[in-house]
Amino acid sequence: MIYLNGKFLPMEQATVPVLDRGFIFGDGVYEVIPVYSRKPFRLGEHLSRLQHSLDGIRLQNPHTEEQWAGLIERIIELNEGDDQYLYLHITRGVAKRDHAFPREVTPTVFIMSNPLPAPPAKLLVSGVSAITARDNRWGRCDIKAISLLPNILLRQLAVDAQAMETILLRDGLLTEGAASNIFIVKDDLLLTPPKDHRILPGITYDVVLELAETHGVSHVTREISELELRTAQEIMLTSSTKEILPITQLDGQPIGNGTPGPVFQQLDRLYQAYKLEVMRGHAPRQ
Ligand code: PDD
Repeated sequence: MIYLNGKFLPMEQATVPVLDRGFIFGDGVYEVIPVYSRKPFRLGEHLSRLQHSLDGIRLQNPHTEEQWAGLIERIIELNEGDDQYLYLHITRGVAKRDHAFPREVTPTVFIMSNPLPAPPAKLLVSGVSAITARDNRWGRCDIKAISLLPNILLRQLAVDAQAMETILLRDGLLTEGAASNIFIVKDDLLLTPPKDHRILPGITYDVVLELAETHGVSHVTREISELELRTAQEIMLTSSTKEILPITQLDGQPIGNGTPGPVFQQLDRLYQAYKLEVMRGHAPRQ
C-alpha cells in the first residue's frame, strides 16, 4: 500500500496527472528513510533534512512533523516486512506548464515502502569496486532533489563498468558517490569531506561520525584531494539503504591490500550494534 495525497491505496491504483510538475520539470524533493524492526531510523533527522530540501526549493512543507510521523507509522503498518525503506516524495503540484512557480497549488505528496534487505554478507567480506568520474552536477547538491539525471548518468557508468558506485571529483577534490557519501582512511585517520553545497548531508554520514567520536576513532572532516583518494588505506561508502560498504578497488586498482580494512570493520561493528540498540529503544542518539 502507498500513500498519495491523503489516501492510502494499492500502488496499481495510484496515478498522478501528467501536468504534475514532478513529471514535467522534476520540480520536487524526496527522502529515503530506513525502517528496522518496524521503527523508522533517525526519523527526526530525515524530517529535518526534508525541511532543508523544501526550503531550498522554496516549497512550503505540506505537513507538520507529527503529521509526517503519523503517515509514516501507518505506511509501515500497511506494508510487510520488519525492515523496509520508505520513499517520501513531494512535488510543487499540478499546474499548466510554466517554469515560474504556480500560485496556490497543492503539493503532491507520495509515500511508498519497499523491503530493505541487509547488505549481502559476501560484499562485506570481499568489498566492492568503484570508478571515478567528474562531478558534473549542479551547485546545490545539499538539496535532495527528485531531478536526478546527472546522478543517474553517473551511476550508470558504474553499472556499465560492473562496479558498485561512481565516486565523484569536482575541481580535483572528492565530493561524494552518485548515491552515497564517501569516507577514506589516510595515516590511520578517518576522513570525509565537510557538509556544504557540494554534497548531500547524509544521515548515515552523521551516524558514522558520531560513532567515530564516541568510540575514539580518530577522524577529521576536510577537503580530500584526488591523490589522497587514490592512495587511501581504505575507502568506504555510506547510505541509508547500503549502510557502510568497503570499497576495495578503485578504477581497477586495489585500495590498501584489496580487502576491507580495520577501520571499516570497526565502524561496521559499531553501526550494527548501534542499530540493535536503537531497535530496542535504548539509544535514540549516540
Ligand atoms: N541516496 N549522497 C547522495 C547523492 C545520495 O543519493 C545519498 C542517498 C547519500 C547518502 O545519504 P543517506 O545516508 O542519508 O542515505 C549521499 C538514497 C539512499 C537514494 O537516493 O536512494
